[in-house]
Amino acid sequence: MGQQPREQWGTRAGFLMAAIGSAIGLGNIWRFPYVAYENGGGAFLLPYLIAMLTAGIPLLILEYGIGHRYRSSAPLSYRRIRRPAEALGWWQVAICFVVAIYYAVIIAWSIRYTWFSITQAWGNDPDGFFFNDFLQMNPEPGPVSGYVSGVAWPLIGVWLVALTILIIGVRRGIEIINRITIPLLVLLFGIMVIQALTLDGAATGLNAFFTPDWSAMLTGKVWIAAYGHVFFSLSIGFAIMVTYASYLKRKSDLTGSAMVAGFANASFELLAGIGVFAALGFMAAAAGTAVDEVATSGIGLAFVAFPQIISSLPFGGPLFGVLFFACLSIAGVTSLISIVQVIVSAVQDRTGLGRTQTVALVGGATALASILLFPTHEGLHFLDVFDRFINQYGIALAGLVLVVFIAWGVRRLKLFQAHVNAVSSIHLGTWWRVTLGAVTPILLGIMMWDSLRIELTENYEGYPTGFLLAAGWGVAIGAIVFGIIMACFPWKRADAIARDDAARTRDKDDQAPVQLEEPEQVGTEPATDHTPDKEGDH
Ligand code: ALA
Repeated sequence: MGQQPREQWGTRAGFLMAAIGSAIGLGNIWRFPYVAYENGGGAFLLPYLIAMLTAGIPLLILEYGIGHRYRSSAPLSYRRIRRPAEALGWWQVAICFVVAIYYAVIIAWSIRYTWFSITQAWGNDPDGFFFNDFLQMNPEPGPVSGYVSGVAWPLIGVWLVALTILIIGVRRGIEIINRITIPLLVLLFGIMVIQALTLDGAATGLNAFFTPDWSAMLTGKVWIAAYGHVFFSLSIGFAIMVTYASYLKRKSDLTGSAMVAGFANASFELLAGIGVFAALGFMAAAAGTAVDEVATSGIGLAFVAFPQIISSLPFGGPLFGVLFFACLSIAGVTSLISIVQVIVSAVQDRTGLGRTQTVALVGGATALASILLFPTHEGLHFLDVFDRFINQYGIALAGLVLVVFIAWGVRRLKLFQAHVNAVSSIHLGTWWRVTLGAVTPILLGIMMWDSLRIELTENYEGYPTGFLLAAGWGVAIGAIVFGIIMACFPWKRADAIARDDAARTRDKDDQAPVQLEEPEQVGTEPATDHTPDKEGDH
């Protein structure tokens, strides 16, 4: 069949670096500071921490558990739990496709801006430069009317780098690149934050970030923002962690790794908040205005406010800019790789094709879609609407469906608790099942309902209804339809691949075969004799 043994991470540190590299991305550097600020500054930190502990880390552990137990891509893992659940996996694959195609273009902008920082190409008008000169944006959304070469060529470069690393493989490609780039990222970002803290007005910026607005904690919106951000930031809900954990050795500390990855991501996020707000404090002091006058939304913050800060620095402006945009680019690439790996791994499991062929085929198709749609005069509108809809009705909704399916549909939380505890340093208690079985579904359900209600009453950002139907609802619902269609195809190879994989992936500390579909136990908690130790007896 030509089926290769499933790849494995070389070391635990390698897996951890890859998981952290996936989590730390564009979301940490420009999204978190702004979301935190908009939702009560310091008062946001507590809901964020609570969201991380009650939903983020528990779901991260569940995704690790699923990937580690079934050692397969998301569609095949869910199929082994219950055949129709394969649709959820393909839905998540479609979500990753949509996220990957727009995520890459933000990295392409960051790369250009790393260079622009040296020459300060934006002159006196960073806003006009970004939207008119650089993106050559058409103010009206609509069909693609022309290409912007200054965005297209760095985007091609981003895709070439990402696909090359994916072709090299999990251990020699993804693991090595993360082991090099994550320490580098922390070092460069640390230097940038220190430089930001020395600026005049930095204290004012930090005050704005850390001064709690306790009344904000009583608003539902703040909690919804906290839960929504934790999903995107921890890379959960889009099957990345199921995929990465499927390359773990059998003896892997799952809970310990989830804690380290979760807290490393949160620490980086806090560091980003400190750096960005110290810089905004400087900008506000220089302009003689309040910090809330200069803080703008995500894309604006990175590509409009930062160039302004770089130009106004008394010294070291180019260094500050290069550090900021290089960090954004590095953090983005390691996350992009993890997003595309979800697609590659699913198609490999489905077809039995080799890694190179699969990356060339599906990675190439993803890159092509990205290159055709985004370096265009209308690209920013597509990006904005894709991002909004695929986050709200893709990532968060798929996360909710996964939790409800495991906790209530097949009632497997006890099974996964036993599975995770059998290999982990920190043992999961009842709290884990309560958070996943009750707290997460209720809070996510409320969040979903609330954003749907707003969506149906007002057009997002005032976009025309036709455009929102095509680029927003069309894409979000299209991803679900894609999942269902893919699960309807007969998958003759699945069990054969699983058997083959089970036979081949044993290594010296791995005596447990991969599970094929587990016995039907709808409505009952499975007996704990599915723990890895016992699996070896099957
Ligand atoms: N977790 C990644 C980010 O924060 C996707 O950007």
